[in-house]
Amino acid sequence: EKGGYDHFMLKEIHEQPNAISDTYRGRLLADKGIIKMGSVDNNITKFLNAKRIIIVACGTSWHAGLVGEYLIEEFARIPVEVEYASEFRYRNPIISKDDIVIAISQSGETADTLAAIKLAKANGAFVFGICNVVGSSIARETNSGAYTHAGPEIGVASTKAFTTQITVLSLIALKLGNLKGELSNSKFNNYLQELKLIPSKVTEVLKINTEIEKIAAIYKDAPNCLYLGRGFNFPVALEGALKLKEISYIHAEGYPAAEMKHGPIALIDASMPVIVIATKKGHYEKVVSNIQEIKSRKGKIIAIVTKGDTVVKEIADHVIEIPETEEAFTPLLTTIPLQLLSYYIAVMRGCNVDQPRNLAKSVTVE
Ligand code: M6R
Repeated sequence: EKGGYDHFMLKEIHEQPNAISDTYRGRLLADKGIIKMGSVDNNITKFLNAKRIIIVACGTSWHAGLVGEYLIEEFARIPVEVEYASEFRYRNPIISKDDIVIAISQSGETADTLAAIKLAKANGAFVFGICNVVGSSIARETNSGAYTHAGPEIGVASTKAFTTQITVLSLIALKLGNLKGELSNSKFNNYLQELKLIPSKVTEVLKINTEIEKIAAIYKDAPNCLYLGRGFNFPVALEGALKLKEISYIHAEGYPAAEMKHGPIALIDASMPVIVIATKKGHYEKVVSNIQEIKSRKGKIIAIVTKGDTVVKEIADHVIEIPETEEAFTPLLTTIPLQLLSYYIAVMRGCNVDQPRNLAKSVTVE
């Protein structure tokens, strides 16, 4: 049932190229220059007239929501707010009928997300779900929605659900951007062609397995770990840290790289591993100077860079290369090495990777 892999998590990490292709199936018609999504098409006036989109979710799905904020604001120019479902539901939020609420949930059973949806509906908002489990409570409660089609995710640590949620959000953002006239047909088409290449680029990233295992062996006993990223890769830093803490029990924090100077830099010394996402285009020079700041305080740097990078290679202790893609799609690639790193560290520490202590796959009580 684990398909020859030691754990479901590793199997699910490796399933990502196929899972993303399954998310595209019937939707991404790159050669025709079309994104077809019945649930968006059927509600297109609502989407195009939305004054605001509020994304509600928990955990990893909330991180996908943050990537969604960057995607939707960049391409469709609709203001987006991303809320923890648990905070949203209890703070008397301002919701109107011109708002679209997007609820993201792998299981479709998360209690807080379900309650947030009910509240939004009661206040007249149109609620759109992005779920993986077909027929789940959230899928049934929402007004409309799009499934991720990632297939069953058994490991408690979410992996393929995250990348397929981002895939759905990319499709929605690009589609709305094009229809709103924010994205010209030629730019739109270029993005579609690039999206089509993502599964094979994920396959390429999965091949760097052994290098990541070596890095894991060096840092497996670290008591703490920092993850930094900017822009589209800031949520990836948060997700990398969550993945490490939940399965390896190492304390980890994710930060927007520039926030380092506002506190976390005090933690850096020779025993602190810092994982930095430093891909080309994504505020690259700024990230390079953040890396220099860490290095001058003797922090150990593990950098995720674009293939062919030379600058970061000079400064970092380790580099993990990913293929080049559009900046907006980099989270789909940069996430993969962080999943693998957490996985190998957890295995080396003897942790129960698929069922970490104190955690459940779906959190059906608040
Ligand atoms: O099923 P959901 O996507 O609603 O679950 C939300 C979180 O409970 C979930 O993402 C959790 O944070 C994962 N264990 C993270 O790997």
